[in-house]
Amino acid sequence: MRVLFVTSECLPYVKTGGLGDVAGALPAALRAEGVDVRTLIPGYPGVLDRLENSKVLRDLRGLPGLPSAAPARLVAGRGVDGGTVYALDIPSFFGRKGNPYLGPDGKDWSDNHLRFAALGRIAALIGLAGDGATGRAAWKPDVLHGHDWQAGLAAAHLHFPLWPLAGLKRPGTVFTIHNLAFQGLFPAETVPTLGLPWDGFTPQGFEFYSQLSFLKAGLVYSDRLTTVSPTYATEIQGEIFGFGMDGLLRARADVLDGILNGIDTDAWDPARDPQLSALYDADNLSAKEANKADIQRAFGLSPDIHAPLFGIVSRLTDQKGIDLVVQTIPHIVARGGQLAVLGTGTASLEQALAGAARHYPGRVGLVLGYDEALSHRLQAGVDVLMVPSRFEPCGLTQMYALRYGTLPLVSRVGGLADTVTDCTDDALSDGTATGFTFGPVTVPSLINAIDRAFALHPQTDRWRKVQRAAMARDVSWGASARHYVDTYKAAMAAAQG
Ligand code: ADP
Ligand code: GLC
Repeated sequence: MRVLFVTSECLPYVKTGGLGDVAGALPAALRAEGVDVRTLIPGYPGVLDRLENSKVLRDLRGLPGLPSAAPARLVAGRGVDGGTVYALDIPSFFGRKGNPYLGPDGKDWSDNHLRFAALGRIAALIGLAGDGATGRAAWKPDVLHGHDWQAGLAAAHLHFPLWPLAGLKRPGTVFTIHNLAFQGLFPAETVPTLGLPWDGFTPQGFEFYSQLSFLKAGLVYSDRLTTVSPTYATEIQGEIFGFGMDGLLRARADVLDGILNGIDTDAWDPARDPQLSALYDADNLSAKEANKADIQRAFGLSPDIHAPLFGIVSRLTDQKGIDLVVQTIPHIVARGGQLAVLGTGTASLEQALAGAARHYPGRVGLVLGYDEALSHRLQAGVDVLMVPSRFEPCGLTQMYALRYGTLPLVSRVGGLADTVTDCTDDALSDGTATGFTFGPVTVPSLINAIDRAFALHPQTDRWRKVQRAAMARDVSWGASARHYVDTYKAAMAAAQG
């Protein structure tokens, strides 16, 4: 079975959030199930120069929405994990350093509709006509697997193929929602610019309240839909988490599955992680302490091995409930705790955290920025990782925490609810507890969970038992990769039917 991943981020080339982790790790797990997975990504600077044996397969100039003069080529090469990567070598769209979506002013690039329409258009071209290689090297997918709004138009192009592609056999299509809040909305005038037919610009198609929605195109025209946890799959069918798409998702509930994300258990392994001050495993948890000292140093916190150390690695946004954390800081400090935050995001939240760090020197530490290596050290060094999200399709940081014997403290939403088992009395005594969960997502309820962490922390034996249960939880991709294979089969059957 041949599957083409279509994604705007993929580790180790480019990542702004969990989609990068998933697109980086899931293909390897699928290959272990015998699937021939290849990945199509925009040719950002970090991509093209890391492909080995790269070859130009197609000249893309002049296709609808693509530049007519500048170089526009489909390149294929061997990626860092050994799999084949297709990159869109279109320097006028993708030859920009930094965040893949935002300019240096922090605003969306004004041509994002063109940039990601190109991704969908070329995905559909490969889906219908193959990758352009000749002879035995030619490759055409059985399934096109798009991720998030940036890949949404691929399914629409397969539905409305342009000459000379009309009539060719199309692949099955799977579309994964990593975050329904990001919808790729653009003015109606962009429809003809992108070579889309007005026939599709209806409430039954890719129109969303008079705008073009890339996300909706993916949701309407794909054979199968998935999202990244079972709880989120249910939540998005309701008004609160549905962001206006709940009606459509209810109507398509029979083809929608929640498949829980896994993590890359090689890259995230406290017994082998080269970033850590000291390696450890479930039988040797006292070695975790050297990592706590490391984080206290790195975040300017007082060296104090007994102070419960709370940590956050996150985009600093409303989704992630960071404003709630800001309000609990006086309480954490008053109880003798410490807080280390690594993140970047909304200016007001960055300022609020910076203010708290100034106000509580040695107790609250902040590193503003994106730092992959430091995120590993933080996962190993803190006692409790906080993820108080208002909504969370899956969430990966709580799974990294579980693997590192760091107890997650999370709101009971989406994938957080599916991956963390609360330290209730029952769960503590039967050994299933792995962290702290709370709901509703309010300050008092968060403080209640924080207080329960403070109460458990000095009970070293019980804390250790929870750490070991956390580390024993299966957070690998195995079962989910098999679930995707079944989904691919269903999509292929739908495409044939
Ligand atoms: P989301 O995709 O919504 O941001 P996830 O929990 O799925 O949330 O994934 C976030 C990913 O980004 C994780 O791998 C996390 O470690 C990483 N991350 C977030 N912020 C930072 C940061 N400032 N520095 C390093 N890694 C970060
Ligand atoms: C999104 C979600 C996050 C999820 C990630 C990977 O960014 O916000 O919850 O873990 O995608 O699927």
